[in-house]
Amino acid sequence: MANSAITFYDKFLPDQPEHTHHYKGENYHAALYDLVCRSSGIDSPHDAFKLEQTDMFTVEEMASNPVSMRFFEFLIQVAGIRRVLEIGAFIGVSTMNFARALPPGGEVVSIEKFDHFAAIARKNFELNGLSDRIRLLEGDAFEVIERLPQDEKFDLIFVDGNKERYKDYVEKTEHLLSEKGIMVVDDCFFHGDVANDTPVDDKGAGTRAFMDYAATRDDYLRIALPLANGIFLMVRKPG
Ligand SMILES: C[S@@+](CC[C@H](N)C(=O)[O-])C[C@H]1O[C@@H](n2cnc3c(N)ncnc32)[C@H](O)[C@@H]1O
Repeated sequence: MANSAITFYDKFLPDQPEHTHHYKGENYHAALYDLVCRSSGIDSPHDAFKLEQTDMFTVEEMASNPVSMRFFEFLIQVAGIRRVLEIGAFIGVSTMNFARALPPGGEVVSIEKFDHFAAIARKNFELNGLSDRIRLLEGDAFEVIERLPQDEKFDLIFVDGNKERYKDYVEKTEHLLSEKGIMVVDDCFFHGDVANDTPVDDKGAGTRAFMDYAATRDDYLRIALPLANGIFLMVRKPG
C-alpha cells in the first residue's frame, strides 16, 4: 500500500513546491503568468481597452486580474449569461470586460459609489463604444440596490465593493439572481487575511465573515476558487 507523506494541501496551489520543482528559471510567477496569458489569448487591459485612468490607484492595484476576467467570460459563454450586476466599477475595467463578453442584447448594470471613479468609468465606456450595453448607477450600492426594480433578474452578480460588507451584499442581492444565476465574490482570500483565526484588517474581517457565512449556505453549490486573490462562486442547488 502506498504511504506517501504528500497531502492534498501540498498540491493545492500552482506555486507550491510539489507543482514547481521542475522550474529552473528566476521568476516562476512572471513566467507562468506570461504563458497563461499567451496560451489563453489574454491581453493586458491597457491593450484591450482605451483607458482613461485615475492618479489615485493603478489598474493593476484595483482591477480584477485579467485571468479572472477570462474565467468570467468563460462562464458567460457556457452558462448563457445575458445580464450582469456589478458592485464596484472603479474605472470600469471589469465592467467593460463583462460588456464585451455578453451576447447582443446583453446588459451590465454596475454600481459605483465614488463620483470620481464613476466619471472616468463613463468616459471609458464611451471611448470603447460600450455605453449602450452598460448602465452605471452612481451611489452607495446598498441604497442603489433598494431602488432597483426588485423583480429585475441577473444571471451573474459580481460582488467587488467594500470588503467589510461582503456578506451584506450577498444577502441584499441574492433575490435578484435568476434561477441558475451565479453569485461571484471577488478577492475572497483578501491577501491571506481570511486564513487568520483573527483577521488583522477590517476588510479581511469582512471577507472572513462572508466566508464563514458562505459555509452555512447549503442551499447553494459553492466553491472558493484559488485564482488571483480568491474567487467565491455560488449557484442555487436545483430543487
Ligand atoms: C476593487 S474596486 C472594483 C474594481 C473593478 N470591479 C474592476 O475589477 O475593475 C472596488 C470599487 O468599489 C467601490 N465601492 C466601495 N464601496 C462601495 C459601495 N458601498 N457602493 C458602491 N461602490 C463601492 C470603490 O469605490 C471601488 O471603485
